[in-house]
Amino acid sequence: MKTIEIHTPTQNSVITCERGSFQKYARDFLGGHQNFVLTDSNVHAIYGQEIAEVFGNTPVYILPAGEENKNQKNLFSILQAMIDAGLHRNSYLFALGGGVVGDIGGLAAALYMRGIHCVQIPTTLLAQVDSSVGGKTAVDMGKVKNVVGAFYQPEAVLVDGSFLKTLPAREIRCGLGEIIKYGALNPSILDNLLENADRLFDLDYLSEITSDCIAHKAEVVRLDEREQNLRKSLNMGHTTAHALELNYGDLSHGEFVLVGMYYELKIAVAEGLATAEYADLLSGLILRVLGEAPRYAGLEKAAEFARLDKKNAASDVVSMIVPAGYGVYAELKLPFEKYRDYLVRFAGK
Ligand code: NAD
Ligand code: GLY
Repeated sequence: MKTIEIHTPTQNSVITCERGSFQKYARDFLGGHQNFVLTDSNVHAIYGQEIAEVFGNTPVYILPAGEENKNQKNLFSILQAMIDAGLHRNSYLFALGGGVVGDIGGLAAALYMRGIHCVQIPTTLLAQVDSSVGGKTAVDMGKVKNVVGAFYQPEAVLVDGSFLKTLPAREIRCGLGEIIKYGALNPSILDNLLENADRLFDLDYLSEITSDCIAHKAEVVRLDEREQNLRKSLNMGHTTAHALELNYGDLSHGEFVLVGMYYELKIAVAEGLATAEYADLLSGLILRVLGEAPRYAGLEKAAEFARLDKKNAASDVVSMIVPAGYGVYAELKLPFEKYRDYLVRFAGK
Protein backbone atom coordinates (compact mmCIF):
# COMPACT_ATOMS: atom_id res chain seq x y z
CA MET A 1 0.00 0.00 0.00
CA LYS A 2 1.17 3.53 -0.73
CA THR A 3 -0.52 6.58 0.73
CA ILE A 4 -0.03 10.03 -0.77
CA GLU A 5 -1.49 13.17 0.79
CA ILE A 6 -2.27 16.50 -0.80
CA HIS A 7 -2.71 19.39 1.59
CA THR A 8 -4.28 22.43 -0.05
CA PRO A 9 -5.89 25.47 1.58
CA THR A 10 -9.35 23.97 0.94
CA GLN A 11 -9.04 20.26 1.71
CA ASN A 12 -6.72 17.45 2.65
CA SER A 13 -6.94 14.68 0.12
CA VAL A 14 -5.67 11.20 0.94
CA ILE A 15 -4.85 8.92 -1.98
CA THR A 16 -4.52 5.23 -1.20
CA CYS A 17 -2.86 3.08 -3.86
CA GLU A 18 -3.55 -0.55 -3.09
CA ARG A 19 -5.01 -3.47 -4.97
CA GLY A 20 -8.31 -4.37 -3.28
CA SER A 21 -8.68 -0.92 -1.67
CA PHE A 22 -12.25 -0.52 -3.00
CA GLN A 23 -13.51 -3.63 -1.18
CA LYS A 24 -11.38 -2.90 1.84
CA TYR A 25 -11.94 0.81 2.55
CA ALA A 26 -14.93 2.26 0.64
CA ARG A 27 -17.48 1.21 3.26
CA ASP A 28 -15.50 3.05 5.97
CA PHE A 29 -16.94 6.30 4.62
CA LEU A 30 -20.60 5.28 4.80
CA GLY A 31 -20.91 6.15 8.50
CA GLY A 32 -24.70 6.04 8.78
CA HIS A 33 -25.19 9.04 6.47
CA GLN A 34 -27.37 9.36 3.39
CA ASN A 35 -24.83 8.74 0.60
CA PHE A 36 -24.80 8.44 -3.18
CA VAL A 37 -22.91 6.37 -5.72
CA LEU A 38 -22.31 7.54 -9.27
CA THR A 39 -21.03 5.10 -11.85
CA ASP A 40 -21.48 4.49 -15.58
CA SER A 41 -23.34 1.83 -17.53
CA ASN A 42 -20.22 -0.14 -18.56
CA VAL A 43 -18.71 -0.17 -15.10
CA HIS A 44 -22.04 -1.11 -13.55
CA ALA A 45 -22.46 -3.99 -16.01
CA ILE A 46 -19.15 -5.45 -14.81
CA TYR A 47 -19.03 -4.41 -11.15
CA GLY A 48 -22.74 -4.07 -10.24
CA GLN A 49 -22.59 -6.94 -7.78
CA GLU A 50 -19.46 -5.65 -6.00
CA ILE A 51 -21.03 -2.18 -5.85
CA ALA A 52 -24.13 -3.63 -4.20
CA GLU A 53 -22.01 -5.66 -1.74
CA VAL A 54 -19.93 -2.67 -0.67
CA PHE A 55 -22.60 0.04 -0.66
CA GLY A 56 -25.69 -1.93 0.40
CA ASN A 57 -28.84 0.11 -0.20
CA THR A 58 -27.06 3.38 -1.03
CA PRO A 59 -28.69 4.86 -4.17
CA VAL A 60 -26.68 4.18 -7.32
CA TYR A 61 -26.98 6.54 -10.30
CA ILE A 62 -25.91 4.91 -13.57
CA LEU A 63 -24.73 7.44 -16.14
CA PRO A 64 -24.71 6.22 -19.76
CA ALA A 65 -21.03 5.59 -20.64
CA GLY A 66 -19.15 7.98 -22.90
CA GLU A 67 -17.68 11.49 -23.07
CA GLU A 68 -20.84 12.85 -24.76
CA ASN A 69 -22.66 12.25 -21.46
CA LYS A 70 -20.36 14.55 -19.48
CA ASN A 71 -22.78 17.42 -20.03
CA GLN A 72 -24.93 19.93 -18.18
CA LYS A 73 -28.16 17.97 -18.71
CA ASN A 74 -26.79 14.91 -16.92
CA LEU A 75 -25.15 17.07 -14.27
CA PHE A 76 -28.55 18.50 -13.31
CA SER A 77 -30.19 15.11 -13.51
CA ILE A 78 -27.58 13.79 -11.03
CA LEU A 79 -28.18 16.79 -8.74
CA GLN A 80 -31.93 16.12 -8.86
CA ALA A 81 -31.31 12.48 -7.92
CA MET A 82 -29.15 13.68 -5.01
CA ILE A 83 -32.04 15.86 -3.80
CA ASP A 84 -34.45 12.92 -4.20
CA ALA A 85 -32.06 10.74 -2.16
CA GLY A 86 -32.20 13.31 0.67
CA LEU A 87 -28.46 13.99 0.78
CA HIS A 88 -27.27 16.54 3.31
CA ARG A 89 -24.05 18.34 4.11
CA ASN A 90 -22.43 15.29 5.73
CA SER A 91 -23.24 13.00 2.83
CA TYR A 92 -20.62 11.36 0.63
CA LEU A 93 -20.72 11.09 -3.13
CA PHE A 94 -18.69 8.13 -4.42
CA ALA A 95 -17.60 8.59 -8.05
CA LEU A 96 -16.79 5.08 -9.22
CA GLY A 97 -15.68 4.98 -12.85
CA GLY A 98 -13.39 6.56 -15.38
CA GLY A 99 -12.60 10.24 -15.86
CA VAL A 100 -16.09 11.02 -17.15
CA VAL A 101 -17.74 9.81 -13.93
CA GLY A 102 -15.00 11.42 -11.84
CA ASP A 103 -15.31 14.81 -13.52
CA ILE A 104 -19.11 15.09 -13.51
CA GLY A 105 -19.43 13.44 -10.08
CA GLY A 106 -16.79 15.71 -8.58
CA LEU A 107 -18.64 18.73 -9.93
CA ALA A 108 -21.99 17.48 -8.58
CA ALA A 109 -20.34 17.04 -5.15
CA ALA A 110 -18.89 20.57 -5.37
CA LEU A 111 -22.27 22.11 -6.25
CA TYR A 112 -24.68 20.22 -4.02
CA MET A 113 -25.33 22.38 -0.94
CA ARG A 114 -22.13 24.24 -1.94
CA GLY A 115 -20.06 21.13 -1.36
CA ILE A 116 -20.41 17.65 0.13
CA HIS A 117 -17.76 14.99 0.72
CA CYS A 118 -16.44 13.26 -2.35
CA VAL A 119 -14.57 9.97 -2.65
CA GLN A 120 -13.10 9.15 -6.03
CA ILE A 121 -12.78 5.47 -6.95
CA PRO A 122 -11.13 5.56 -10.38
CA THR A 123 -11.57 2.46 -12.55
CA THR A 124 -9.59 3.38 -15.68
CA LEU A 125 -5.83 3.77 -15.87
CA LEU A 126 -6.27 7.36 -17.01
CA ALA A 127 -8.48 8.18 -14.04
CA GLN A 128 -6.13 6.40 -11.60
CA VAL A 129 -3.02 8.11 -12.83
CA ASP A 130 -4.45 11.56 -13.43
CA SER A 131 -8.07 12.68 -13.42
CA SER A 132 -9.18 11.43 -9.98
CA VAL A 133 -6.36 13.30 -8.27
CA GLY A 134 -6.05 17.06 -7.89
CA GLY A 135 -9.64 18.26 -7.76
CA LYS A 136 -10.34 19.41 -11.31
CA THR A 137 -14.02 18.73 -12.01
CA ALA A 138 -16.04 19.75 -15.06
CA VAL A 139 -18.61 19.10 -17.75
CA ASP A 140 -18.39 19.93 -21.45
CA MET A 141 -20.84 22.33 -23.11
CA GLY A 142 -21.42 21.85 -26.81
CA LYS A 143 -18.01 21.55 -28.41
CA VAL A 144 -16.16 23.22 -25.56
CA LYS A 145 -14.51 20.69 -23.29
CA ASN A 146 -14.43 21.09 -19.50
CA VAL A 147 -15.67 24.65 -19.79
CA VAL A 148 -17.96 24.57 -16.74
CA GLY A 149 -16.26 23.28 -13.63
CA ALA A 150 -14.69 23.84 -10.26
CA PHE A 151 -11.57 23.00 -8.32
CA TYR A 152 -12.88 20.68 -5.64
CA GLN A 153 -10.57 18.25 -3.90
CA PRO A 154 -11.91 14.77 -3.10
CA GLU A 155 -11.50 13.83 0.54
CA ALA A 156 -10.15 10.45 -0.51
CA VAL A 157 -9.11 8.61 -3.65
CA LEU A 158 -9.00 4.81 -3.66
CA VAL A 159 -6.68 3.69 -6.45
CA ASP A 160 -7.39 -0.01 -6.83
CA GLY A 161 -5.30 -1.66 -9.57
CA SER A 162 -7.61 -4.67 -9.68
CA PHE A 163 -10.10 -2.64 -11.78
CA LEU A 164 -7.57 -2.57 -14.62
CA LYS A 165 -8.00 -6.26 -15.42
CA THR A 166 -11.32 -5.62 -17.18
CA LEU A 167 -10.12 -2.56 -19.13
CA PRO A 168 -9.93 -2.90 -22.91
CA ALA A 169 -6.37 -2.50 -24.32
CA ARG A 170 -7.42 0.76 -25.89
CA GLU A 171 -8.21 2.26 -22.48
CA ILE A 172 -4.80 1.13 -21.22
CA ARG A 173 -3.30 3.08 -24.12
CA CYS A 174 -5.23 6.16 -23.00
CA GLY A 175 -3.77 5.94 -19.50
CA LEU A 176 -0.31 5.45 -20.97
CA GLY A 177 -0.77 8.81 -22.70
CA GLU A 178 -0.88 10.53 -19.32
CA ILE A 179 1.90 8.30 -17.91
CA ILE A 180 4.26 9.28 -20.75
CA LYS A 181 3.30 12.90 -20.08
CA TYR A 182 4.60 12.44 -16.51
CA GLY A 183 7.75 10.88 -18.03
CA ALA A 184 8.27 14.06 -20.04
CA LEU A 185 8.00 16.10 -16.82
CA ASN A 186 9.93 13.90 -14.40
CA PRO A 187 13.32 12.36 -15.30
CA SER A 188 13.05 9.44 -12.89
CA ILE A 189 9.66 8.44 -14.34
CA LEU A 190 11.13 8.75 -17.85
CA ASP A 191 14.11 6.53 -16.92
CA ASN A 192 11.72 4.02 -15.39
CA LEU A 193 9.60 3.99 -18.57
CA LEU A 194 12.63 3.61 -20.84
CA GLU A 195 14.01 0.76 -18.71
CA ASN A 196 10.62 -0.99 -18.78
CA ALA A 197 9.62 -0.16 -22.34
CA ASP A 198 8.76 -3.84 -22.92
CA ARG A 199 6.36 -3.89 -19.95
CA LEU A 200 4.21 -0.89 -20.85
CA PHE A 201 1.07 -3.03 -21.09
CA ASP A 202 1.86 -5.19 -18.04
CA LEU A 203 -0.78 -4.45 -15.37
CA ASP A 204 1.60 -5.06 -12.43
CA TYR A 205 4.07 -2.60 -13.88
CA LEU A 206 1.33 -0.06 -14.52
CA SER A 207 0.13 -0.26 -10.92
CA GLU A 208 3.71 0.37 -9.72
CA ILE A 209 4.33 3.39 -11.94
CA THR A 210 0.86 4.83 -11.22
CA SER A 211 1.82 5.74 -7.66
CA ASP A 212 5.01 7.51 -8.88
CA CYS A 213 2.89 9.56 -11.31
CA ILE A 214 0.36 10.40 -8.60
CA ALA A 215 3.18 11.47 -6.26
CA HIS A 216 4.45 13.81 -8.99
CA LYS A 217 0.99 15.25 -9.56
CA ALA A 218 0.29 15.60 -5.82
CA GLU A 219 3.38 17.77 -5.37
CA VAL A 220 2.41 19.95 -8.34
CA VAL A 221 -1.15 20.38 -7.01
CA ARG A 222 0.12 21.10 -3.50
CA LEU A 223 2.25 23.93 -4.87
CA ASP A 224 -0.25 25.30 -7.38
CA GLU A 225 -3.79 24.00 -6.88
CA ARG A 226 -5.40 26.71 -9.06
CA GLU A 227 -3.08 26.38 -12.06
CA GLN A 228 -1.44 29.78 -11.83
CA ASN A 229 1.97 28.48 -12.88
CA LEU A 230 3.44 25.01 -12.20
CA ARG A 231 0.21 23.07 -12.75
CA LYS A 232 0.12 24.25 -16.36
CA SER A 233 2.86 21.66 -16.96
CA LEU A 234 0.23 18.92 -16.57
CA ASN A 235 -1.45 20.19 -19.74
CA MET A 236 1.48 19.06 -21.88
CA GLY A 237 0.25 17.91 -25.29
CA HIS A 238 -3.31 18.89 -24.41
CA THR A 239 -3.71 21.98 -26.64
CA THR A 240 -3.29 19.97 -29.82
CA ALA A 241 -4.99 16.95 -28.24
CA HIS A 242 -8.17 18.92 -27.49
CA ALA A 243 -8.17 20.58 -30.93
CA LEU A 244 -7.94 17.20 -32.71
CA GLU A 245 -10.38 15.56 -30.30
CA LEU A 246 -13.01 18.23 -30.94
CA ASN A 247 -12.57 18.24 -34.70
CA TYR A 248 -12.12 14.54 -35.46
CA GLY A 249 -13.14 12.55 -32.38
CA ASP A 250 -11.89 9.28 -33.90
CA LEU A 251 -9.67 8.54 -30.88
CA SER A 252 -10.30 9.03 -27.19
CA HIS A 253 -8.88 11.66 -24.86
CA GLY A 254 -5.76 9.76 -23.72
CA GLU A 255 -4.90 8.66 -27.26
CA PHE A 256 -5.18 12.27 -28.42
CA VAL A 257 -2.85 13.32 -25.59
CA LEU A 258 -0.23 11.02 -27.10
CA VAL A 259 -0.88 12.38 -30.59
CA GLY A 260 -0.81 15.96 -29.26
CA MET A 261 2.50 15.40 -27.49
CA TYR A 262 3.95 13.78 -30.62
CA TYR A 263 3.16 16.76 -32.83
CA GLU A 264 3.94 19.40 -30.21
CA LEU A 265 7.40 17.75 -29.83
CA LYS A 266 7.95 18.38 -33.53
CA ILE A 267 6.90 22.00 -33.05
CA ALA A 268 9.29 22.28 -30.07
CA VAL A 269 12.18 21.04 -32.23
CA ALA A 270 11.24 23.43 -35.06
CA GLU A 271 11.15 26.31 -32.55
CA GLY A 272 14.59 25.34 -31.19
CA LEU A 273 13.22 24.39 -27.75
CA ALA A 274 14.00 20.65 -27.85
CA THR A 275 16.78 18.70 -29.55
CA ALA A 276 15.99 16.13 -32.24
CA GLU A 277 17.68 13.44 -30.05
CA TYR A 278 15.37 14.14 -27.12
CA ALA A 279 12.36 14.26 -29.42
CA ASP A 280 13.35 10.83 -30.84
CA LEU A 281 13.61 9.36 -27.33
CA LEU A 282 10.16 10.54 -26.28
CA SER A 283 8.54 9.90 -29.66
CA GLY A 284 9.89 6.33 -29.51
CA LEU A 285 7.90 5.73 -26.31
CA ILE A 286 4.81 7.41 -27.74
CA LEU A 287 4.92 5.28 -30.89
CA ARG A 288 5.39 2.09 -28.86
CA VAL A 289 1.95 2.80 -27.42
CA LEU A 290 0.28 4.42 -30.42
CA GLY A 291 1.72 2.30 -33.26
CA GLU A 292 1.77 5.24 -35.60
CA ALA A 293 0.77 8.89 -35.39
CA PRO A 294 -2.42 9.55 -37.37
CA ARG A 295 -2.41 12.16 -40.14
CA TYR A 296 -5.40 14.31 -40.92
CA ALA A 297 -6.98 16.33 -43.73
CA GLY A 298 -8.66 19.65 -42.90
CA LEU A 299 -6.37 20.63 -40.05
CA GLU A 300 -7.10 24.32 -40.63
CA LYS A 301 -10.48 23.76 -38.95
CA ALA A 302 -8.96 21.74 -36.10
CA ALA A 303 -6.48 24.56 -35.46
CA GLU A 304 -9.44 26.90 -34.88
CA PHE A 305 -10.33 24.83 -31.81
CA ALA A 306 -6.83 25.44 -30.42
CA ARG A 307 -7.59 29.13 -30.80
CA LEU A 308 -10.58 28.71 -28.44
CA ASP A 309 -8.57 26.81 -25.84
CA LYS A 310 -9.08 28.23 -22.36
CA LYS A 311 -5.29 28.19 -21.78
CA ASN A 312 -4.81 31.04 -24.29
CA ALA A 313 -4.53 34.58 -23.01
CA ALA A 314 -5.66 36.09 -26.37
CA SER A 315 -7.56 34.77 -29.38
CA ASP A 316 -4.74 35.23 -31.89
CA VAL A 317 -2.19 33.34 -29.79
CA VAL A 318 -2.08 29.59 -29.21
CA SER A 319 -0.45 28.63 -25.96
CA MET A 320 0.92 25.15 -25.25
CA ILE A 321 3.20 23.32 -22.86
CA VAL A 322 5.86 21.47 -24.82
CA PRO A 323 8.54 18.96 -23.79
CA ALA A 324 11.91 20.73 -23.97
CA GLY A 325 14.46 18.27 -22.56
CA TYR A 326 14.96 15.69 -19.81
CA GLY A 327 12.41 16.72 -17.15
CA VAL A 328 12.16 20.19 -18.70
CA TYR A 329 9.12 21.81 -20.25
CA ALA A 330 8.45 25.18 -21.83
CA GLU A 331 5.37 27.30 -22.34
CA LEU A 332 5.25 28.13 -26.03
CA LYS A 333 3.00 30.91 -27.31
CA LEU A 334 2.66 30.97 -31.08
CA PRO A 335 0.74 33.36 -33.31
CA PHE A 336 -2.33 31.44 -34.46
CA GLU A 337 -1.26 31.31 -38.15
CA LYS A 338 2.16 29.90 -37.25
CA TYR A 339 0.61 27.18 -35.07
CA ARG A 340 -1.88 26.28 -37.83
CA ASP A 341 0.93 26.05 -40.42
CA TYR A 342 3.01 23.77 -38.16
CA LEU A 343 0.03 21.52 -37.58
CA VAL A 344 -0.66 21.20 -41.30
CA ARG A 345 3.05 20.61 -42.03
CA PHE A 346 3.58 17.89 -39.40
CA ALA A 347 0.17 16.22 -39.09
CA GLY A 348 -1.41 16.85 -42.48
CA LYS A 349 -2.00 14.27 -45.16
P1 NAD B 1 -14.18 7.21 -19.51
O1 NAD B 1 -14.58 7.63 -18.18
O2 NAD B 1 -15.08 7.50 -20.66
O3 NAD B 1 -13.83 5.66 -19.47
C1 NAD B 1 -13.41 5.01 -20.66
C2 NAD B 1 -14.27 3.77 -20.93
O4 NAD B 1 -13.89 2.73 -20.04
C3 NAD B 1 -15.76 3.99 -20.72
O5 NAD B 1 -16.45 3.31 -21.73
C4 NAD B 1 -16.01 3.33 -19.36
O6 NAD B 1 -17.34 2.91 -19.24
C5 NAD B 1 -15.06 2.18 -19.40
N1 NAD B 1 -14.58 1.67 -18.12
C6 NAD B 1 -14.29 2.37 -17.01
N2 NAD B 1 -13.73 1.56 -16.10
C7 NAD B 1 -13.71 0.33 -16.62
C8 NAD B 1 -13.22 -0.93 -16.14
N3 NAD B 1 -12.60 -1.07 -14.97
N4 NAD B 1 -13.37 -2.00 -16.96
C9 NAD B 1 -13.93 -1.88 -18.19
N5 NAD B 1 -14.38 -0.71 -18.70
C10 NAD B 1 -14.26 0.38 -17.91
O7 NAD B 1 -12.76 7.87 -19.94
P2 NAD B 1 -11.38 8.08 -19.18
O8 NAD B 1 -10.35 7.87 -20.21
O9 NAD B 1 -11.31 7.35 -17.92
O10 NAD B 1 -11.45 9.64 -18.81
C11 NAD B 1 -11.53 10.63 -19.80
C12 NAD B 1 -12.16 11.85 -19.19
O11 NAD B 1 -11.32 12.32 -18.14
C13 NAD B 1 -12.34 13.00 -20.17
O12 NAD B 1 -13.60 13.56 -19.99
C14 NAD B 1 -11.26 13.99 -19.74
O13 NAD B 1 -11.62 15.32 -20.03
C15 NAD B 1 -11.18 13.73 -18.27
N6 NAD B 1 -9.90 14.10 -17.65
C16 NAD B 1 -9.96 14.84 -16.51
C17 NAD B 1 -8.79 15.18 -15.85
C18 NAD B 1 -8.88 15.95 -14.57
O14 NAD B 1 -7.83 16.37 -14.06
N7 NAD B 1 -10.05 16.10 -13.99
C19 NAD B 1 -7.55 14.76 -16.34
C20 NAD B 1 -7.53 13.99 -17.51
C21 NAD B 1 -8.72 13.66 -18.15
N1 GLY C 1 -4.88 16.84 -15.85
C1 GLY C 1 -4.38 18.16 -15.65
C2 GLY C 1 -4.52 18.65 -14.25
O1 GLY C 1 -5.04 17.97 -13.38
O2 GLY C 1 -4.14 19.74 -13.96
